[in-house]
Amino acid sequence: RRILLVNGPNLNLLGTREPEIYGSVTLAELEGIVTDRAEMHGLEVSAVQSNHEGELIDRIQAARETCVGVIINPGAFTHTSVAIRDALSAIALPVVEVHLSNIHRREEFRHHSYVSGVAEAVIAGAGPDGYTFAVDVLASHL
Ligand code: DQA
Repeated sequence: RRILLVNGPNLNLLGTREPEIYGSVTLAELEGIVTDRAEMHGLEVSAVQSNHEGELIDRIQAARETCVGVIINPGAFTHTSVAIRDALSAIALPVVEVHLSNIHRREEFRHHSYVSGVAEAVIAGAGPDGYTFAVDVLASHL
């Protein structure tokens, strides 16, 4: 069984991007954290990061055939994308939403998430550990 890990725009810059907010862990390291944790649950991982909304939607749609659940950090699309929410809704797989930062402690425009309404759980502000928790929570919904 396989899960899809989705990281949205600008998360390819992790490690150098605003480290005071997002820490020093790189995207490759985060993907490694998720892969290792998933293995403990007997799960495989497909990982995608894209800065393009349409590509993220294509990958989410494809997960319907290949995956049993989704972990997603939609980046800024969290706060803007009805289309990503609709894609997640359409595939009808369990979804866990994760944010490195606590979006509720930041600017007002980050407080609303279009994705949360279709997620089993939302983890924000736990940094990279949030991705570990996300795997555990997703596994409990499979
Ligand atoms: C983020 C929070 C979003 O508001 C922001 O646009 C990101 C990263 C996080 O992981 O904390 O790109 O999703």
